[in-house]
Amino acid sequence: MKARKVAMAAAAIATAMCVAACDGGPGGADGSGPVPGGDPEAGSAAIIEYGCASCHTIPGVESISRTIGPDLTGFDDQIYIAGQLPNRPEELIRWLQNPQEIVPGTAMPNMGVTQQDARDIAAYLYDQ
Ligand code: HEC
Repeated sequence: MKARKVAMAAAAIATAMCVAACDGGPGGADGSGPVPGGDPEAGSAAIIEYGCASCHTIPGVESISRTIGPDLTGFDDQIYIAGQLPNRPEELIRWLQNPQEIVPGTAMPNMGVTQQDARDIAAYLYDQ
């Protein structure tokens, strides 16, 4: 009886965590990733295309990093994006498209990242 209660509590916690981490989107609950409509594989291609690894260390992407931007390893464990935005998919997408608006003068440039590319990149970064 007691063991069953513990198991039920664990299941409830897992569900609650998904509600928080999955941001209410479709994907996620089945382990398909926290960013609805984001494709991590396309994301890694976009990261190479935009040259993000020239400033960031990004797992799985060959880096010529001079360590200008933060290491993005384990990024999904972070609480804030650039110390400003809550680390949620929609906020990350916003950041990738327009960092200069969020942190004026930041060394991260606006790179003309499209909405879909930002979504794919977010899916990739949360996967690491
Ligand atoms: C010219 C260097 C440069 C390029 C290119 C660049 N970034 Fe950044 N990035 C930065 C810097 C510097 C910061 C730190 C900004 C801050 O905290 O104000 C940053 C912050 C970030 C953050 C938040 C990290 C954190 O720890 O909060 C993410 C995510 C990110 N960049 C992803 C990307 C992606 C994806 C690309 C490619 C589309 C990219 N960056 C291109 C320099 C760069």
